[in-house]
This record gives sequence, C-alpha cells and structure tokens, in this order.
Amino acid sequence: MKKLSFIIVVLLSASTFPQKFNDLALTPPMGWNSWNKFACDVDEELIRKTADAMVSSGMKDAGYVYINIDDCWHGQRDSLGFIHPDPKRFPSGMKALADYIHSLGLKLGIYSDAGWNTCGGRPGSRGHEYQDAMTYAKWGIDYLKYDWCNTEALNAEGAYLTMRNALYAAGRPIVFSLCEWGDNKPWDWAENIGHLWRTTGDITNCFDCIVDHGTWKSWGVMYILDKQDGLRIYAGPDHWNDPDMMEVGNGMSVNEDRAHFSMWCMLAAPLISGNDLRNMSKETNEILTHKEVIAVDQDALGIQGFKYSSEDSVETWFKPLKNGEWAVCFLNRSSVVKPVEFSWKDKTVSDSFSGKELNCNKTIYSIKDLWVNKNIGKTDKTFSAEVPSHDVVLLKLSLVK
Ligand code: GLA
Repeated sequence: MKKLSFIIVVLLSASTFPQKFNDLALTPPMGWNSWNKFACDVDEELIRKTADAMVSSGMKDAGYVYINIDDCWHGQRDSLGFIHPDPKRFPSGMKALADYIHSLGLKLGIYSDAGWNTCGGRPGSRGHEYQDAMTYAKWGIDYLKYDWCNTEALNAEGAYLTMRNALYAAGRPIVFSLCEWGDNKPWDWAENIGHLWRTTGDITNCFDCIVDHGTWKSWGVMYILDKQDGLRIYAGPDHWNDPDMMEVGNGMSVNEDRAHFSMWCMLAAPLISGNDLRNMSKETNEILTHKEVIAVDQDALGIQGFKYSSEDSVETWFKPLKNGEWAVCFLNRSSVVKPVEFSWKDKTVSDSFSGKELNCNKTIYSIKDLWVNKNIGKTDKTFSAEVPSHDVVLLKLSLVK
C-alpha cells in the first residue's frame, strides 16, 4: 500500500511538475525576426506580407517556419494587468494574426523581457509572467524570445525559470528563446529551461567591425563567430547556442553573406533571417534557401562544428554529420583572395567531444562543393582551391559506397 501511494505521488508530481516543453527544437529553429531590419517599425501589415513572402520566396519549402515579431508590438496593460498589442499597429489583434500565419502553415513568435520594461521601453513581463504566458497561449503564439533589459537585481536563471514554468502552466507548447546575451553563462544552466540561448550581444550588419553605442556595443559577424569559442560542448538537439539572428540580405556583399550563412550552418545555429523578405535579391534568396547548405545546419546529430586550424587568415572548420558524413568549411577572413590546400590523407581529424574521426587513410570520401553544386572528386587526392576575400568554400564529404 505504501509502495502504491508512493508510485501515485511520483506519477502525479511528474504530470504537474513544471518543465520545459521538450522536443520543440530537435534541430535549430528556422524562421524570420523583425528586429535586424525593422527595429521598432513593426505592424500587422508587415508581418502578414512577410509571411506571404516566406511562402512565395521558397523559404517555407526550404524549412523556415517561424515569423517572429520582436520588440515594440506592445500597447498597454489593462486594469487587470493583461497586455494588449498596440491598437494602431495591430488593429486586428494577435489572435487574428496568429490564425493567418497558421493558415499558411507557418508559426508565430513574439517578444518580451524579464524586466519591467523591454529594451525598446515597452511593458516587460516582470510580475506578469503567468498572465503573459496565458495570454500568448490564448493568442496561439508558438515562440517566445525573452530579453534581459531593465532587470537590475534579478537573478537570470531564476527569472528564465519563472517564465519557463509560466509557459508550461499555460499549456501551449512554445519554443523558449533566452536572450540575455551570454552575460550569465546560460549554457551552464539553461538546457532544461529553454530551447536556445543567445551567446553574445547584438549582431550588426558588417563582416568585421564593432559598433560602439556608448553604453553597449554591437558586433560584426566575425566577432560573433569568435565569441562562440568553447561553447560547442553545451549545444545539442533541443538546446542550442544562438549567435544571434542573421544579417544576410541587409547590405553586406554577397561573398560576406555567403560566409555568414555558411558559418551559422557550421555552428548548428538557429537560422533566423533578419532581412526584408518582401524585397529580396536573387542572390540573397539563393543563399537563404540553399537546401544542401541548410542540411548542414539541420543535421539530425545536432553537433556544433569546430575550428580545426587557422593559418594566414584562413580558418578550416569541420562538422560531423549523420551517416558518417562531414561538412568542411574554409573561411577566408582576409581582404585578398587566398589559396587553400588540404591533404586529407596526411591529417586525421578527431573530435573528442562527439567521438567522431575523419581518417582518410582508412576511408575514402567523395567531395561535393555545396555552393558550386558540383562533385569534385575524392579524398584520395589533395584538395586545392582559391577562396575569395570574406568568403568560404564549403564541402560535404560522403562515404564512397
Ligand atoms: C536586445 C536584443 C535584440 C532585440 C532588441 C529589441 O538588444 O538583444 O535582439 O531584441 O533588444 O529591443
């Protein structure tokens, strides 16, 4: 009898105990977010048209699913404390918008902040966590990005845990994206709290620069890349390092956009585009929808890639993939074209984290150049190529059958 009541108590507490909604992000989330291009200039027209463009541009077919509204959608809280969208910008309300997004086979994301106010000065969720989670669930929201402005004296793990529990209590599976810029080392504690966590401050639209905003800085693509050093052991299916939303299509050169996108795929990063999907160039579209490159990011093993070497401004990165395949990326960070040469047979690449090894003496692989879309031989011969400035050569190695 004692045993039976113990089992009942365990079962009951397992079903009611707050937790993260599991398995919502077994591969890195893919979608779009308003912030990088539109900042506070968001309204329902933009969101609907962006969702339409996600379908018509082929992005949905390529795997993008979330349409995420960032800061500044908010209106006021009512007398009972419930949050409402800005009635001028979102006159039809969030439920109608979510219904529309869902009718296209897409999902809707929203943004809030653990503090009193968001970074854009709109109402934050502090003290309203359960109420806001309930409201989002009622609206049909599928993804929450939760920021960290105006949180003085709050404990990050505790604050994110509160919102995780609130989302769970509200009962609607919502991807939970932590955005505290890596300040409190979320990789140490967030695996069971969220599905992804920002590892750095904000990205900015340049390859290799820092923008100083006075009290804070934003970071070019290469700076963000360098800040991922040492973090790959924390990422995996359902809990990803997030090096921030992409700047592809926002003004860098095509080479730089290609390098940026390739490196995010090597990192198994969430692929959240941040450009104007309604007015995208052919080149931007081709980068964002390249299915075989996206497959490197979305590989089921979910192993974040690693830097193998860095020589004369050229980095060589490896990422183990399922079925014994590997992605290999040569990244030229310099301002001039660089030759690369890689003698597969002379180098054994061992990844102690995943236990995978690339040994081309034991096994021969066929090589595909993914961006050129061409099979280029096997690993029995030394590979050589020229990599343009601020660009990559991205290869996939497959076992020869
Ligand atoms: C912070 C976040 C950004 C964006 C803005 C919105 O800076 O890091 O990604 O959400 O806030 O105000």
